Amino acid sequence: MRMKWCLSLLLAAVAGGAAWTHSEPSAAYVGWERCAPCHSDKAEGWQTTRHAEALESLKKTEQENLPGCVKCHVTGYEKDGGFIDYELTPEMAGVQCEACHGAGGGHVEDPMGVKPAGKVGEEACRQCHTEDQDPGFNYEEKTKGIHGAN
Ligand code: HEC
Ligand code: HEC
Ligand code: HEC
Ligand code: HEC
Repeated sequence: MRMKWCLSLLLAAVAGGAAWTHSEPSAAYVGWERCAPCHSDKAEGWQTTRHAEALESLKKTEQENLPGCVKCHVTGYEKDGGFIDYELTPEMAGVQCEACHGAGGGHVEDPMGVKPAGKVGEEACRQCHTEDQDPGFNYEEKTKGIHGAN
């Protein structure tokens, strides 16, 4: 009886570890507006790109609620802190910073201690610019102006 209790307490401690201590960086998505105060040039430039308007493209044809379309036109779809639907999470619409740089929760809490991926390789783009969706995708060409003019 006592052993069992100890074991469940131990399991609870392991599962709750991230919340109990501050040593584990958050892996949650937070949205581009949380990045903007410190990376205002990138945020301004990005807003001029088609990535920023990606969910608007689906709205035009009223397809913004089709999961099969939405997953590539938003940020962090079905992930912690990521896009759920237009009503609940409008701030995660479009292909934002974290779609390429990864979830930024930890970095926002501790910018110097937790660094996101500064180098974004072709495989990050290929999550969405798949062979089916975008057969002619050329990484070198398409990365120019990734943050607009910035
Ligand atoms: C409180 C200020 C702050 C916020 C908020 C912030 N950053 Fe940063 N970010 C920094 C600083 C400072 C550095 C530089 C760290 C260094 O070079 O040691 C940095 C570096 C980076 C880098 C480059 C890492 C590298 O290897 O060169 C990327 C990419 C980045 N941030 C993306 C983001 C994203 C995406 C968000 C929002 C989710 C964000 N940042 C939010 C301050 C911030
Ligand atoms: C695998 C990821 C992915 C899925 C799934 C996806 N898209 Fe896209 N979509 C993209 C990418 C990447 C682009 C930009 C490259 C291009 O134009 O093909 C794009 C571009 C678009 C555009 C703007 C460009 C144009 O052709 O006018 C529209 C509109 C669009 N998609 C609608 C849809 C709809 C509707 C669905 C669901 C039936 C869908 N997408 C599903 C990745 C995806
Ligand atoms: C579609 C993908 C994509 C999106 C969206 C994106 N980035 Fe980037 N980012 C990149 C790539 C690719 C690089 C590397 C550029 C290079 O090597 O020249 C980069 C580099 C960076 C760097 C480090 C290098 C530098 O030039 O200082 C920072 C900081 C950064 N991005 C922040 C942001 C922020 C903040 C946002 C959102 C407002 C954002 N990025 C949106 C792809 C993206
Ligand atoms: C989360 C999915 C996603 C990721 C990751 C992503 N893209 Fe996109 N990208 C899209 C969608 C969707 C569009 C179409 C937006 C629209 O017009 O509605 C698009 C459009 C573009 C466009 C403008 C249309 C064109 O084909 O010229 C460029 C350039 C582009 N992406 C480059 C990149 C590069 C480079 C990367 C990686 C560094 C990347 N994207 C990562 C989904 C993504």
